[in-house]
Amino acid sequence: MATILIVDDEKNIREGLNQSLMSNGFKTLMANNGQDGLFMIMNESVDLAILDIQMPKTNGIDLFKKIITLEKDIPVIFITGHGSVELAVDAMRLGAYDFITKPINLEKLELIVQRALKQKNIEKENQTLIVKLNAYEMHKSIIGESKAIKHLTGVIERVAPSKANVYICGESGTGKELVCDAIHSISGRNQPLVKVNCAALSPTLLESELFGHVKGAFTGADSHKVGRFEQANHGILFLDEISEVPTNIQVKLLRVLQEKEIERVGSGQPIPLDIRIISASNKDLKKEVEKGNFREDFFYRLNVIDIYVPPLREREKDVILLASHFFKTFCKANKKHLDVTPQFFSALDNYHWPGNIRQLSNVIEKVVVLNQTGKVTIKDLPAEIKKDIKVKETIEITLGQTLEEIEKKVIDETIRYCNGNKSEAAKVLGIGRKTLYRNS
Ligand SMILES: Nc1ncnc2c1ncn2[C@@H]1O[C@H](COP(=O)(O)OP(=O)(O)OP(=O)(O)O)[C@@H](O)[C@H]1O
Ligand SMILES: [Mg+2]
Repeated sequence: MATILIVDDEKNIREGLNQSLMSNGFKTLMANNGQDGLFMIMNESVDLAILDIQMPKTNGIDLFKKIITLEKDIPVIFITGHGSVELAVDAMRLGAYDFITKPINLEKLELIVQRALKQKNIEKENQTLIVKLNAYEMHKSIIGESKAIKHLTGVIERVAPSKANVYICGESGTGKELVCDAIHSISGRNQPLVKVNCAALSPTLLESELFGHVKGAFTGADSHKVGRFEQANHGILFLDEISEVPTNIQVKLLRVLQEKEIERVGSGQPIPLDIRIISASNKDLKKEVEKGNFREDFFYRLNVIDIYVPPLREREKDVILLASHFFKTFCKANKKHLDVTPQFFSALDNYHWPGNIRQLSNVIEKVVVLNQTGKVTIKDLPAEIKKDIKVKETIEITLGQTLEEIEKKVIDETIRYCNGNKSEAAKVLGIGRKTLYRNS
């Protein structure tokens, strides 16, 4: 049963509406002034509000503006006298649902109320569907079936709808930015996601990039600039590589998070902010705090919820799933069809991937681009990987050849195995470089 709030200072109108709405099966709440109305909106579950425009103290329009600021998803219908129709039209521009003029036609009002509630329900259902669809897309975009990755996607789903600040940590290339994108896509609001790489900007640039500046704030500031905070208002600001923010800017950021407002550099004019911060780092920020490189109070403001993105070596079997995905992507991009041997996949699975998913993606792209045979074998692996996983490669020797021919084949194949590095090949074979040169 929907709950409707009636705010009107005229007792007759309040009571009349109340009777009519209750007889039509609605639950009602009543207030005779804007302030009490606001209190009810903040403390009760209200589905729709009918507000009189002209009321002493907080009038209907002021109350409506507060409802907007509070991001309460409540359709508002205004009651207007002849003198306040223009105000009601202005309110509709701000997003009010409709207005009705006095004397109130109760049947007409009932129709407007039903229509508004129906639209609200449709919007709510749409929103739920969008969130479900995005969650499905998120599961598709974050590839992996390991326990570690299932835990991670579960955490993302639980964290996304809240407004809490999130700190994402994990080694380089593990997918921290992907996690931020996923949180944004299923957070359920149409909100901007603005990204700043804190390591890529000098301290002075970082400050004006984040806060913006007014014309003439410093040498070179020849026009106004809207900072990233303002761009991300009502949305998410992603502060990547947060450990690289210098201490003096950490202090300023802390103040923004505490006071929920910013000032453009050189302006002195506070701008209210409604923002969620997602930060990320591949350094252990807690250790940076212990070393005195990062402010503890700032760390705790950022780290309301922390998400750890595990390294690839801790995600059993995901290497093969990811590698298959990257093969598909890069073969399509390069218009190639390649057969990949099981030995190649198992070699990838045995490697420890210090550069994580980014390194795996780069390796597959390189293999796809360079391959000329149409068949991907462990011979196609880059040297650094072969070396580390000690790939066992074999060659075939046909009997009936001279020892010299066999020796040449072994030397040539070893040079290829060492990716053309002859000194390395000589070392592997345990012969001098000169002997190798003579016979290759
Ligand atoms: N589980 C995954 N499924 C598919 N692609 C992934 C996955 N994890 C990471 N990637 C891809 O790997 C690449 C690196 O990921 P990302 O940039 O998010 O890593 P990062 O942790 O932010 O790295 P860095 O610390 O270097 O900034 C991206 O192209 C990303 O799309
Ligand atoms: Mg990153």
